Amino acid sequence: GDGLLRIAVIGTGYVGLVSGACFSEFGFSVTCVDNDQAKIDLIQNGTMPIYEPGLEDLVARNVAASRLHFTTDLGTAVADADAVFIAVGTPTRRGDGHADLSFVYAVAREIAPHLDGYTVVVTKSTVPVGTGREVYDIVAQTNPQADFDVASNPEFLREGAAISDFMRPDRVVVGTMSERARTVIRALYRPLYLIETPIIFTELETSELIKYASNAFLAVKISYINQMADLCEAVGANVHDVAKGMGLDKRIGNKFLHPGPGYGGSCFPKDTLALVKTAEQYNIDIGIVDEVVSYNDKRKNAMAGRVKAALDGVVAGKVIAVLGLAFKPETDDMRDSPSVDIIRELVDAGAQIKTYDPKAMDEARHMLPDSVSYCASAGACINDADAVVIVTEWNEFRALTAAQFIAAMRGHVLVDLRNIYDGAQMRDAGLSYSSIGR
Ligand code: UDX
Repeated sequence: GDGLLRIAVIGTGYVGLVSGACFSEFGFSVTCVDNDQAKIDLIQNGTMPIYEPGLEDLVARNVAASRLHFTTDLGTAVADADAVFIAVGTPTRRGDGHADLSFVYAVAREIAPHLDGYTVVVTKSTVPVGTGREVYDIVAQTNPQADFDVASNPEFLREGAAISDFMRPDRVVVGTMSERARTVIRALYRPLYLIETPIIFTELETSELIKYASNAFLAVKISYINQMADLCEAVGANVHDVAKGMGLDKRIGNKFLHPGPGYGGSCFPKDTLALVKTAEQYNIDIGIVDEVVSYNDKRKNAMAGRVKAALDGVVAGKVIAVLGLAFKPETDDMRDSPSVDIIRELVDAGAQIKTYDPKAMDEARHMLPDSVSYCASAGACINDADAVVIVTEWNEFRALTAAQFIAAMRGHVLVDLRNIYDGAQMRDAGLSYSSIGR
């Protein structure tokens, strides 16, 4: 060939699609594979299956440059590749909370016969400790002739900031079995050496655990500030000042100390649960994480109670406008979003729910009760509402003023679960305003 490293990425979900596009932007030849023909057709026509800022342009640019390809033909992509990234889902397994590895293992079996020349098989999906070795065994058993190594290279990108997180990560973590594999992976991340990104090489198991340990720690941090927020409300303190005062201590750091309705998304809920299950399996006490898993569930459920309390317990027949549905801004992802729990409970209590989200309404339709209505704008949503609830902190909601709420609403209750407004301003204008921890 031309000496250029070739990459195959199996799975065009969030991580696969973003990683593939970013590796092609680095200059490598990348083929993204998915067994869903409709999805591949969609992407080839320039439509992204997910909303992620900048992704559509990035994909278009690299497809046009012939560095990025999409196909359902796994065999050819794998045969050509120097590195095969497995980026399929590892959802929570029904019934027991463990990560479901059936998709990862199926890919291992599927790629094995096609490996041609030395290839590094890299798990990019978040996979429990021991998965890399299992992938190694599956490939070796399926194709005893294969010349390959397995590496673990967890992805830390955040939805909504995925491209910049991939291109400018805080660190790259790589677990490998050999120096030969390290050399390939090092070459793939060569562009990051220019910006002095630390690359940490470890054993397979260590790398696999770093991902879970990081996500669980962040979940602990969020839950901690959420509990402090509750305490702040009780004692009359301000959680933002508490967070600031804590965060200036470099050992603590100021990130991920923003209180809210509880964390959601595709990673924290599933990864914390999977980590607890791994610890259980080895009889190790990680009660801190266990506690955070149940606390966060409780917290999401408790949020509807705040809305009820703000309406003095009278919810039946009330029109409640919910602004924001996605689990966080700049994404259309509804997985484990607090909005789902909140809306279900308010509907059960007899409320009539109107909602608006800039990106997530299509996703939300499958997940919310049928009686929920979807509005064309934030303005239309708050119109004639008895109460407004801010669930996701989209920038366009920050610009709404007290005067706009007063003019549009028929009631005056504003429940801000993301603390995006100035409480004094809202109250002075006559709104009954409540927020989190202040
Ligand atoms: C997370 C990790 O950050 C990322 O490294 C990992 O690879 C995947 O999981 P993501 O789920 O995209 O990324 O979103 P993130 O920005 O981390 O937010 C997760 C949840 O925590 C959201 O529900 C968010 O609203 C909440 N959160 C975050 C808070 O409530 N407070 C904070 O201070 C930060």
